Amino acid sequence: MNKTIAVIRGDGIGPEIVNEAIKVLDAVAAKHGHTFTYDEVDMGGVAIDKWGDPLPQAMLDKCLAADSVLLGAVGGPKWEGLPGPQRPEKGLLRLRAGMGLYSNLRPAKLWPQLADASPLKPSIVEKGIDFMVVRELISGIYFGEHKTVEQNGEQVATDVMLYAEHEIERIGRIAFETARKRRHKVTCVDKANVLDTSRLWRAVMHRLQPEYPDVEYSEMFVDNAAMQVVKDPSQFDVIVTGNMFGDILSDEASMITGSIGMIPSSSLGDGTRGMYEPIHGSAPDIAGQDKANPIGTILSAAMMLRYSFDMAAEADEIEAAVNKALDDGLRTADMMAEGCTLVGCAAMGDAVTARL
Ligand code: IPM
Ligand code: MG
Repeated sequence: MNKTIAVIRGDGIGPEIVNEAIKVLDAVAAKHGHTFTYDEVDMGGVAIDKWGDPLPQAMLDKCLAADSVLLGAVGGPKWEGLPGPQRPEKGLLRLRAGMGLYSNLRPAKLWPQLADASPLKPSIVEKGIDFMVVRELISGIYFGEHKTVEQNGEQVATDVMLYAEHEIERIGRIAFETARKRRHKVTCVDKANVLDTSRLWRAVMHRLQPEYPDVEYSEMFVDNAAMQVVKDPSQFDVIVTGNMFGDILSDEASMITGSIGMIPSSSLGDGTRGMYEPIHGSAPDIAGQDKANPIGTILSAAMMLRYSFDMAAEADEIEAAVNKALDDGLRTADMMAEGCTLVGCAAMGDAVTARL
């Protein structure tokens, strides 16, 4: 198969981790007779510096023309002083919206080799951690109006949280469908004791639920969910939630699995074209030092093959190669443990490639 992949290296450690994912993709392509063509796209701080805009229209167009998008990370201290609409993160939000990617899947899965790296007690970790955060990605408070005004001699800021029924319904369906391929459990996480948007979420979920009688459905307030994720993560299979709660809970979920550097994500809309990125940020403190963990990005590339390109066998091979590298004791600094071998970003990419 021939596929065009729009590649956004981005800022901080972005370019380093994307290099390693491409190494792996090229090796898989060679092995299976595929051709991947990479179209470089500027987004984030690098685009601000070059084009004065975190996502110029021409760059969004390249992503829309590609078969899928692979992203490293964007943002950094250099651009922190900029007003909201001009910040690197805004490029990412606009890309997600511009591509219609409302469904963000973030797996929280413990790799047994990394059990020691989890900050949770062994008695909790032993029960297993394997759940999926299904995060609504292009609505909610991140996309409502953001405003700061002068009122009675002081600054007053508002961020609007808005959800329409159709936006809830389409992500709700993704959650139920995802659960059907897993352990058949959906937990809707919200703040329905306070927020109208959450009460609407529940109403829509109740409407969908009878269509999925084989899926066990429950609801949980987000504050309690944050607690349950560290108290007993084994209770979760699929968590479905809004944009902001999903952002927060997926970081928490990644930490208990050992390292945020390991977690990939997929963002999809109605078609097969998606965007794939690790859930971590641009880590400017270690950028350019060959210290980053490329596995979150490598696994994101595997998700791209599985979900957008229908290449399940190829995706399985990448995941198995990662597993083998971990079995062989190779660790980047974020997940280093006693008795293991510390490797840099490029060496980890080489190690995974060699085990394909
Ligand atoms: C993430 C990030 C982004 C988000 C930021 C960079 C806008 O935190 O992908 O989780 O909040 O969605
Ligand atoms: Mg986040």
